Amino acid sequence: MARSCGAVQNYFRQVDLFPQLRVNQAQLESQTRALRQGAPSDFPTDIPVVVHVLDHSDATTISDAQVASQIEVLNEDYAGTNADLSKVPAPFAQLVGRPGLSFHLATQDPAGQPTTGITRTRTAAVDFGVDDTMKKRSSGGADAWDTTRYLNLWVCGLRGGVLGYAQFPGGDPATDGVVIATAAFGRQGSAKAPFDLGRTATHEIGHYLNLSHIWGEARVPTCDDTDFVGDTPNQLGPNSGKPRFPKVSCPAAPNGDMFMNYMDYVDDDSMFMFSQQQVERMHAALQLSRSGLGASLPVPAAG
Ligand code: ARG
Ligand code: ZN
Ligand code: CA
Repeated sequence: MARSCGAVQNYFRQVDLFPQLRVNQAQLESQTRALRQGAPSDFPTDIPVVVHVLDHSDATTISDAQVASQIEVLNEDYAGTNADLSKVPAPFAQLVGRPGLSFHLATQDPAGQPTTGITRTRTAAVDFGVDDTMKKRSSGGADAWDTTRYLNLWVCGLRGGVLGYAQFPGGDPATDGVVIATAAFGRQGSAKAPFDLGRTATHEIGHYLNLSHIWGEARVPTCDDTDFVGDTPNQLGPNSGKPRFPKVSCPAAPNGDMFMNYMDYVDDDSMFMFSQQQVERMHAALQLSRSGLGASLPVPAAG
Protein backbone atom coordinates (compact mmCIF):
# COMPACT_ATOMS: atom_id res chain seq x y z
CA MET A 1 0.00 0.00 0.00
CA ALA A 2 1.33 3.42 -0.90
CA ARG A 3 1.19 5.59 2.19
CA SER A 4 1.50 9.29 2.39
CA CYS A 5 3.05 10.69 5.49
CA GLY A 6 0.57 12.22 7.89
CA ALA A 7 3.07 14.98 8.62
CA VAL A 8 2.71 16.36 5.09
CA GLN A 9 -1.08 16.27 5.22
CA ASN A 10 -0.95 17.93 8.62
CA TYR A 11 1.44 20.55 7.26
CA PHE A 12 -1.04 21.75 4.64
CA ARG A 13 -3.76 21.80 7.32
CA GLN A 14 -1.57 23.96 9.56
CA VAL A 15 -0.80 26.35 6.70
CA ASP A 16 -4.54 27.01 6.38
CA LEU A 17 -5.34 27.11 10.08
CA PHE A 18 -2.22 28.93 11.25
CA PRO A 19 -0.91 31.17 8.43
CA GLN A 20 1.91 32.38 10.68
CA LEU A 21 3.52 28.96 10.10
CA ARG A 22 4.88 29.97 6.67
CA VAL A 23 6.32 33.19 8.06
CA ASN A 24 7.91 31.33 10.97
CA GLN A 25 9.32 28.70 8.64
CA ALA A 26 10.90 31.20 6.26
CA GLN A 27 12.53 32.90 9.21
CA LEU A 28 13.73 29.59 10.66
CA GLU A 29 15.14 28.58 7.26
CA SER A 30 17.27 31.71 6.92
CA GLN A 31 18.38 31.52 10.54
CA THR A 32 19.27 27.84 10.06
CA ARG A 33 21.45 28.76 7.10
CA ALA A 34 23.15 31.56 9.02
CA LEU A 35 23.77 29.29 11.98
CA ARG A 36 25.58 26.66 9.91
CA GLN A 37 28.28 29.21 9.19
CA GLY A 38 28.45 30.50 12.75
CA ALA A 39 29.59 29.16 16.07
CA PRO A 40 27.58 26.35 17.59
CA SER A 41 25.74 27.34 20.68
CA ASP A 42 23.69 25.71 23.40
CA PHE A 43 20.52 23.78 22.78
CA PRO A 44 18.56 21.18 24.74
CA THR A 45 19.97 17.65 24.37
CA ASP A 46 17.96 15.70 26.97
CA ILE A 47 14.33 15.97 26.00
CA PRO A 48 11.45 15.36 28.43
CA VAL A 49 8.59 13.49 26.83
CA VAL A 50 4.98 13.17 27.93
CA VAL A 51 3.18 10.24 26.33
CA HIS A 52 -0.60 10.64 26.13
CA VAL A 53 -2.08 7.16 25.72
CA LEU A 54 -5.61 7.27 24.32
CA ASP A 55 -7.30 3.91 24.59
CA HIS A 56 -10.69 2.92 23.44
CA SER A 57 -10.88 -0.29 25.51
CA ASP A 58 -8.77 -2.52 27.74
CA ALA A 59 -7.96 -4.53 24.62
CA THR A 60 -6.25 -1.56 22.98
CA THR A 61 -4.37 -0.27 25.96
CA ILE A 62 -0.62 0.17 25.95
CA SER A 63 1.53 -0.95 28.88
CA ASP A 64 4.15 1.17 30.60
CA ALA A 65 6.69 -1.36 29.28
CA GLN A 66 5.61 -0.69 25.70
CA VAL A 67 6.01 3.04 26.30
CA ALA A 68 9.46 2.36 27.75
CA SER A 69 10.37 0.34 24.65
CA GLN A 70 9.61 3.38 22.47
CA ILE A 71 11.76 5.66 24.61
CA GLU A 72 14.59 3.09 24.33
CA VAL A 73 14.38 3.13 20.54
CA LEU A 74 14.56 6.93 20.49
CA ASN A 75 17.58 6.85 22.78
CA GLU A 76 19.37 4.41 20.51
CA ASP A 77 18.50 6.07 17.21
CA TYR A 78 19.18 9.63 18.41
CA ALA A 79 22.48 8.65 20.04
CA GLY A 80 23.56 6.59 17.04
CA THR A 81 23.96 3.49 19.22
CA ASN A 82 21.36 1.45 17.27
CA ALA A 83 22.88 -1.94 16.39
CA ASP A 84 21.76 -1.78 12.76
CA LEU A 85 23.73 1.42 12.11
CA SER A 86 26.54 -0.94 11.02
CA LYS A 87 24.41 -1.92 8.02
CA VAL A 88 24.85 1.47 6.32
CA PRO A 89 26.38 0.76 2.87
CA ALA A 90 30.06 1.76 2.55
CA PRO A 91 29.51 4.76 0.19
CA PHE A 92 27.25 6.38 2.79
CA ALA A 93 29.20 5.39 5.90
CA GLN A 94 31.17 8.64 6.13
CA LEU A 95 27.92 10.63 5.98
CA VAL A 96 26.41 9.07 9.10
CA GLY A 97 25.44 11.65 11.72
CA ARG A 98 24.82 11.04 15.40
CA PRO A 99 22.37 13.58 16.87
CA GLY A 100 23.63 13.11 20.44
CA LEU A 101 20.12 13.55 21.85
CA SER A 102 18.43 11.64 24.63
CA PHE A 103 14.79 11.34 25.68
CA HIS A 104 13.22 10.57 29.03
CA LEU A 105 9.67 10.36 30.34
CA ALA A 106 8.91 13.58 32.19
CA THR A 107 9.35 13.32 35.94
CA GLN A 108 7.53 16.58 36.75
CA ASP A 109 4.16 17.59 35.39
CA PRO A 110 3.44 21.18 34.28
CA ALA A 111 2.53 22.11 37.86
CA GLY A 112 5.83 20.74 39.16
CA GLN A 113 4.30 17.58 40.69
CA PRO A 114 5.93 14.14 40.33
CA THR A 115 4.65 12.15 37.33
CA THR A 116 5.34 8.96 35.38
CA GLY A 117 5.34 11.02 32.17
CA ILE A 118 2.40 8.96 30.88
CA THR A 119 -1.21 10.18 30.83
CA ARG A 120 -4.01 7.71 30.20
CA THR A 121 -7.35 8.68 28.73
CA ARG A 122 -10.24 6.37 27.90
CA THR A 123 -11.86 7.67 24.73
CA ALA A 124 -15.03 6.85 22.80
CA ALA A 125 -13.13 7.19 19.52
CA VAL A 126 -11.84 3.93 18.02
CA ASP A 127 -9.46 5.95 15.88
CA PHE A 128 -8.70 9.50 14.82
CA GLY A 129 -7.99 11.38 11.60
CA VAL A 130 -5.05 13.68 10.85
CA ASP A 131 -6.97 16.57 12.39
CA ASP A 132 -5.51 17.13 15.88
CA THR A 133 -8.72 16.04 17.64
CA MET A 134 -6.64 13.67 19.77
CA LYS A 135 -4.87 16.73 21.20
CA LYS A 136 -7.96 18.16 22.93
CA ARG A 137 -9.90 16.74 25.82
CA SER A 138 -13.05 18.36 24.36
CA SER A 139 -12.80 16.18 21.23
CA GLY A 140 -12.04 12.85 22.91
CA GLY A 141 -8.31 13.36 23.25
CA ALA A 142 -5.88 14.61 25.87
CA ASP A 143 -4.74 18.21 26.24
CA ALA A 144 -1.09 19.01 25.56
CA TRP A 145 1.31 19.81 28.35
CA ASP A 146 3.20 23.10 27.84
CA THR A 147 4.57 22.40 24.36
CA THR A 148 7.51 24.74 24.82
CA ARG A 149 8.87 22.61 27.69
CA TYR A 150 7.75 19.06 26.79
CA LEU A 151 7.73 16.94 23.68
CA ASN A 152 4.10 15.80 23.62
CA LEU A 153 3.56 12.39 22.06
CA TRP A 154 0.01 11.09 21.55
CA VAL A 155 -0.62 7.37 20.94
CA CYS A 156 -3.99 6.47 19.45
CA GLY A 157 -5.71 4.63 16.63
CA LEU A 158 -5.16 6.49 13.32
CA ARG A 159 -7.42 6.05 10.30
CA GLY A 160 -6.37 5.30 6.76
CA GLY A 161 -3.15 3.40 7.48
CA VAL A 162 -1.38 6.53 8.69
CA LEU A 163 1.45 5.48 11.00
CA GLY A 164 2.01 8.87 12.53
CA TYR A 165 2.32 12.59 12.00
CA ALA A 166 4.25 15.49 13.41
CA GLN A 167 3.95 19.24 13.55
CA PHE A 168 6.91 21.12 12.08
CA PRO A 169 8.55 23.93 14.08
CA GLY A 170 6.70 27.23 13.75
CA GLY A 171 3.17 25.87 14.02
CA ASP A 172 0.43 26.50 16.56
CA PRO A 173 1.85 25.90 20.06
CA ALA A 174 -1.52 24.47 21.17
CA THR A 175 -1.15 21.44 18.90
CA ASP A 176 2.62 21.03 18.80
CA GLY A 177 4.04 17.52 19.07
CA VAL A 178 3.88 14.08 17.50
CA VAL A 179 1.12 11.49 17.04
CA ILE A 180 1.91 7.78 16.64
CA ALA A 181 -0.56 5.05 15.72
CA THR A 182 -1.07 2.35 18.36
CA ALA A 183 -0.04 -0.21 15.74
CA ALA A 184 3.32 1.50 15.14
CA PHE A 185 4.31 2.46 18.67
CA GLY A 186 7.29 0.96 20.48
CA ARG A 187 8.67 -2.50 19.77
CA GLN A 188 6.31 -4.77 21.67
CA GLY A 189 2.63 -5.20 22.48
CA SER A 190 0.38 -3.57 19.87
CA ALA A 191 3.24 -2.78 17.45
CA LYS A 192 2.73 -4.67 14.19
CA ALA A 193 5.32 -5.74 11.61
CA PRO A 194 6.82 -4.28 9.50
CA PHE A 195 6.44 -1.14 11.65
CA ASP A 196 7.21 -2.73 15.00
CA LEU A 197 10.67 -1.39 15.77
CA GLY A 198 9.62 2.05 16.96
CA ARG A 199 10.97 3.86 13.91
CA THR A 200 7.76 5.77 13.19
CA ALA A 201 8.49 7.92 16.24
CA THR A 202 12.12 8.31 15.13
CA HIS A 203 10.84 9.54 11.74
CA GLU A 204 8.15 11.86 13.11
CA ILE A 205 10.46 13.44 15.67
CA GLY A 206 12.76 14.12 12.72
CA HIS A 207 9.93 16.26 11.26
CA TYR A 208 9.32 17.83 14.68
CA LEU A 209 13.01 18.88 14.54
CA ASN A 210 12.52 20.37 11.06
CA LEU A 211 13.64 17.51 8.80
CA SER A 212 11.82 17.01 5.52
CA HIS A 213 11.48 13.78 3.60
CA ILE A 214 14.61 13.04 1.58
CA TRP A 215 12.78 13.62 -1.69
CA GLY A 216 11.45 17.01 -0.64
CA GLU A 217 7.79 17.88 -0.35
CA ALA A 218 6.83 18.50 -4.01
CA ARG A 219 3.53 16.89 -4.85
CA VAL A 220 4.79 15.94 -8.31
CA PRO A 221 7.91 13.71 -8.17
CA THR A 222 11.06 15.48 -9.41
CA CYS A 223 14.80 15.03 -8.94
CA ASP A 224 15.17 18.77 -8.35
CA ASP A 225 13.19 19.09 -5.16
CA THR A 226 15.24 19.52 -2.01
CA ASP A 227 15.08 18.61 1.65
CA PHE A 228 17.42 21.56 2.43
CA VAL A 229 20.07 19.02 3.42
CA GLY A 230 23.21 18.82 1.27
CA ASP A 231 24.47 15.34 2.09
CA THR A 232 21.25 13.43 1.44
CA PRO A 233 21.27 12.67 -2.31
CA ASN A 234 18.27 13.94 -4.28
CA GLN A 235 15.80 11.17 -4.90
CA LEU A 236 12.69 11.08 -7.02
CA GLY A 237 10.13 10.02 -4.45
CA PRO A 238 9.55 7.77 -1.45
CA ASN A 239 10.89 4.22 -1.17
CA SER A 240 8.99 1.52 0.66
CA GLY A 241 9.42 -2.04 1.85
CA LYS A 242 12.98 -3.38 2.10
CA PRO A 243 15.00 -1.97 -0.82
CA ARG A 244 18.38 -3.45 -1.81
CA PHE A 245 21.39 -1.17 -2.18
CA PRO A 246 22.03 0.48 -4.60
CA LYS A 247 18.71 1.92 -5.72
CA VAL A 248 19.17 4.77 -8.20
CA SER A 249 16.19 7.04 -8.87
CA CYS A 250 17.99 10.24 -9.96
CA PRO A 251 20.92 10.34 -12.42
CA ALA A 252 22.94 12.92 -10.47
CA ALA A 253 23.19 10.65 -7.42
CA PRO A 254 25.76 7.96 -8.34
CA ASN A 255 25.24 5.87 -5.19
CA GLY A 256 21.51 6.19 -5.55
CA ASP A 257 18.95 6.86 -2.87
CA MET A 258 19.81 7.01 0.81
CA PHE A 259 16.71 4.88 1.39
CA MET A 260 18.07 3.57 4.71
CA ASN A 261 17.63 7.09 6.13
CA TYR A 262 14.96 7.55 8.81
CA MET A 263 13.34 10.21 6.63
CA ASP A 264 12.36 7.77 3.87
CA TYR A 265 9.25 5.50 4.00
CA VAL A 266 10.88 2.06 4.13
CA ASP A 267 10.05 -0.64 6.71
CA ASP A 268 11.29 -0.20 10.27
CA ASP A 269 14.05 -2.81 9.84
CA SER A 270 15.33 -1.04 6.72
CA MET A 271 15.88 2.48 8.12
CA PHE A 272 18.80 3.10 10.47
CA MET A 273 20.63 6.40 9.88
CA PHE A 274 20.55 10.19 9.91
CA SER A 275 23.12 12.13 7.89
CA GLN A 276 25.53 14.68 9.37
CA GLN A 277 23.75 17.64 7.82
CA GLN A 278 20.38 16.38 8.98
CA VAL A 279 21.87 16.40 12.47
CA GLU A 280 23.04 20.01 12.00
CA ARG A 281 19.54 20.96 10.86
CA MET A 282 17.96 19.33 13.91
CA HIS A 283 20.42 21.06 16.22
CA ALA A 284 19.54 24.40 14.60
CA ALA A 285 15.83 23.70 15.15
CA LEU A 286 16.48 22.88 18.80
CA GLN A 287 18.41 26.11 19.24
CA LEU A 288 16.10 28.39 17.26
CA SER A 289 12.61 26.94 17.78
CA ARG A 290 12.70 24.45 20.60
CA SER A 291 15.10 25.92 23.12
CA GLY A 292 12.57 25.69 25.97
CA LEU A 293 12.49 21.87 25.99
CA GLY A 294 13.43 20.69 29.45
CA ALA A 295 13.22 24.14 31.00
CA SER A 296 11.96 23.96 34.55
CA LEU A 297 9.12 25.98 35.97
CA PRO A 298 10.02 29.48 36.97
CA VAL A 299 10.59 29.57 40.73
CA PRO A 300 7.49 31.15 42.28
CA ALA A 301 8.11 34.57 43.73
CA ALA A 302 8.47 34.51 47.51
CA GLY A 303 5.77 35.95 49.72
N1 ARG B 1 4.19 9.46 8.55
C1 ARG B 1 4.61 8.29 7.85
C2 ARG B 1 3.36 7.46 7.56
O1 ARG B 1 2.36 7.63 8.24
C3 ARG B 1 5.56 7.53 8.73
C4 ARG B 1 6.51 6.67 8.02
C5 ARG B 1 7.36 5.98 9.04
N2 ARG B 1 8.07 4.87 8.48
C6 ARG B 1 8.35 3.77 9.19
N3 ARG B 1 9.03 2.80 8.67
N4 ARG B 1 7.97 3.63 10.41
O2 ARG B 1 3.36 6.66 6.67
ZN1 ZN C 1 7.13 11.76 7.21
CA1 CA D 1 19.32 16.45 0.02
